[in-house]
Amino acid sequence: MSSSSIRPHMQWFNEARLGIYIHYGLYSILGRGEWTMYSERIPAKEYAKLADQFFPAPRCAEEWVETACAAGAKYMVLTTRHHEGFCLFDSKYSDFTSAKCGCKRDIVAEYVEAARKAGLRVGLYYSLLNWRNPGYFEPEKYPESYQEMIDTIHKQVRELMTNYGKIDLLEYDGGWDAKLAKTRAERAAFWRSHELNAMVRVLQPGIIINERACTDEDIVTPEQEIRAGEGKMSESCMCIGDSCAWGYTRFNPNWKTPVQLIQNLVIAAQCGGNYLLNIGPAADGHIRNEEYTRLSVLGHWLRRNEEAIRASESCDLIGSSRPGIVDLNLQGPWTCKGNTGYWCIFRWPGRTATAVKVGTPVRKVTLLNDDKALPFEWNADTKRLKINGLPALPPDDLCSIIKVEFEDVPQLADEPDLAEWING
Ligand code: GLC
Repeated sequence: MSSSSIRPHMQWFNEARLGIYIHYGLYSILGRGEWTMYSERIPAKEYAKLADQFFPAPRCAEEWVETACAAGAKYMVLTTRHHEGFCLFDSKYSDFTSAKCGCKRDIVAEYVEAARKAGLRVGLYYSLLNWRNPGYFEPEKYPESYQEMIDTIHKQVRELMTNYGKIDLLEYDGGWDAKLAKTRAERAAFWRSHELNAMVRVLQPGIIINERACTDEDIVTPEQEIRAGEGKMSESCMCIGDSCAWGYTRFNPNWKTPVQLIQNLVIAAQCGGNYLLNIGPAADGHIRNEEYTRLSVLGHWLRRNEEAIRASESCDLIGSSRPGIVDLNLQGPWTCKGNTGYWCIFRWPGRTATAVKVGTPVRKVTLLNDDKALPFEWNADTKRLKINGLPALPPDDLCSIIKVEFEDVPQLADEPDLAEWING
């Protein structure tokens, strides 16, 4: 998507490219991920006892915000209510909230205030499904519970959209039916999603809404994979550790390395979308060192290379034709903005770099953040771009970027005869 086709209320989102997702709730006390109540079939009454142990450290929301800023994120998303049904906000329609149990604090209010103060855009996550309602699992058998669940959702979303000032982003989740038997349209009818979103848009004009209440809204939110949005802007969300460990998971064996985080960010940028990177604070709300240090390294890199990432447009050059895959025998993916391409190189090739299938004539080549023009050859017949005069060692130890100014918006060239290069 070129920036001119971005709708005005989406401009900030298109500029951002990186957001930080926070999964925090009662499950954080158990340390076995956010699905524990369901996957261990813990009865609601027993699970609810955790609420009396919910004591986030004072000002933990400020710590989340500082971490997001250190990562170079422009916005955050907090789970205000996950599938367990525990609300991190004060609600007239539930006693199962952080405002009434344990710490007796409105964590959403603290988060919104801290994020705004730091100049970050504010996102709220809200799960439609609620494991405490039998009517979610068996609506025909428990019609009153189903009705109560839907009414509460509509009232609580109204509270979230009314009591916390301007909200920039609303991320629904859990829009599937328990038996996975319904179509998308039937699911939207089950939650009364059209009505819900009509209300949200009146209360929060300019808000961005995701598609997980099963209606087409502003963005799509692929999970654990980076994917382009096909007509909608995409926000790919991913765990920093093991996939499916969104909530605090004490033993979390697959921490992504800083380079993997940068690769994901670059690929999201190459798709013209955002990377929503998740961390799961511990029971006391603190962010563990494994998460903080990775985000901080990412942030240092992003600040050095912002030009290639923020507001990038989806890029057609090779490396981008298969989103999600940087592990081709190419040095790395491209992002672009207008006529400028940014070749984000993870595997530094040494003094010469060769890009193939470059369909657009080249004007100038430099390293990002270094104005010195580099010698290059672009061949109109072979469509190969050969860049010389590069340093033998990568200028950036994580990912180095070569900036290529084209005569037009860079296009991927066809290679009608795939054997043509063999004989030179
Ligand atoms: C899911 C999961 C959930 C997680 C979310 C993140 O649908 O059920 O636990 O919060 O995706 O986007």
